[in-house]
Amino acid sequence: FRVDWDLVTAEKAGFDHFMLKEIYEQPKAYRDTMMGRISDDGRSVVLNEIGMTAEQIRGIRKIQIVACGTAMHAGLVGKTVIESLARIPVETDVASEYRYRSPIITPDTLVIVVSQSGETADTLAALREAKRNGARVMAITNVVGSSVAREADDVIITQAGPEIAVASTKAYTSQLIAFYLFGLFLADTLGTRDADAIAEVVAAMHELPEKVERILTEAPVLKSLAESLAKHNNLFFIGRGVDFAVVQEGSLKLKEISYIHSEAYAAGELKHGTLALIEEGIPVISLISQEDLYEKTLSNIKEVKARGAHVLAVVNEGLEEEVGKSVDELFAIPKTLPLLAPALSVVPLQLLAYYASLARGNDVDKPRNLAKSVTVE
Ligand code: G6P
Repeated sequence: FRVDWDLVTAEKAGFDHFMLKEIYEQPKAYRDTMMGRISDDGRSVVLNEIGMTAEQIRGIRKIQIVACGTAMHAGLVGKTVIESLARIPVETDVASEYRYRSPIITPDTLVIVVSQSGETADTLAALREAKRNGARVMAITNVVGSSVAREADDVIITQAGPEIAVASTKAYTSQLIAFYLFGLFLADTLGTRDADAIAEVVAAMHELPEKVERILTEAPVLKSLAESLAKHNNLFFIGRGVDFAVVQEGSLKLKEISYIHSEAYAAGELKHGTLALIEEGIPVISLISQEDLYEKTLSNIKEVKARGAHVLAVVNEGLEEEVGKSVDELFAIPKTLPLLAPALSVVPLQLLAYYASLARGNDVDKPRNLAKSVTVE
C-alpha cells in the first residue's frame, strides 16, 4: 500500500504541472501586484517604494531597460508603455550584451533591471555597470531580498508569488503590471497624463484579472489548436507594435518547452526576406490586439495565406467576422485599452505553448538544458 500523494503534487494544487497552475494564478498575481499601489479614488498610482523625488524624476532624460529572457520581453512592452505614457525615450538591452556595447550611461539615465529571480548573473552585472557609471537603478523583481533587490536604488516587487516552472508566465505578466504602474506614476509626476486619463487606465487595469479568467475558460479550445501545432517543427508568429513584443514572448515560450522552432516577426518585415520560408501548410500565428494597425496586419496575413500558410489569428473580440474571412483559425480575446492588451494577449500564447509541450510528451516544467535562474555569465 502506498499513498499516492506527495508534497509536490500537493503544491500543484490539483494542476498537472506548475506551469499550468502558474498560468491560472495570473488573475491573482495581477490583483496582488496592483494592491496598495493605487489611490482610493483610482486617479493616481502610489509607489511609496520609489525613493526618487519629483525633481529627480523630472531630471530623467533617458531610460534603459536591461534584462534576460522573458524578463527582457516584459521590458519590450515596458518601453512602449513608458514612452507612450511619459514620453521619455527608452532603450532596451539584453543584459549579456549591455556592458559590451559601451552603452551611454549618464547620471540623468534611469536604468530599469527586470528579473524574476533577482539573481541572474548577466542582469546583476548590468546593474553594477549602470551604478558604476552614475545612473540610478530601479529593479522590478519577484524576490524580496534578492541580489538585484538589494543592490538597486529603488525596487518594485511583483507580487506573483513563487514561480516554480522554468518557463515564466505569471512573473512576466506581473512585470507588465509593474510597468503599467510605473508608467502611470511617471506620467502623473511629469504631467504627461491628467488624472482623468490615469483613472481611465487604472479602471481598465482593474478589469484585467476578470478578462484573463474569461480567456482561461477557453483553454480546451487552445488545447486542440496546440495539438495541431505540435505536429509541426517550424512555425511563425507575426504582430505589429506592442503585439510584436508579445509574439516574441509567445515564440520563446513555445520554443522553450515544446522544442518547436519558431520565429517571431514584425508583421511588416516578413516581406523583406522571410516570406521565402512560408511554405504550404506552415502555421503562422498572428496577433491582432492593436486595432489601429489591424488592416496592415491583415494584409500581411493575406501575403502568407497566398503562399499556403495555415493561419491562426488571435484577435480582439469584435474583429472575428472581418478577420475570420482571411484566416483558418481564430481565437478571440476580450478588449481592453491598446496599451494593456499584452496582459491579455500573452495568455493564449502561454496556453498554446503549454499544450503543445504536453502533446509532444515533454517535461513541461523542466525543459531540457534550461535552468530557472542562471547565475553564471
Ligand atoms: C533563465 C530562465 C528564463 C528567464 C531568464 C531570466 O534563462 O530560463 O526563463 O526568463 O533566466 O530570469 P530572471 O530570473 O532574471 O527573470
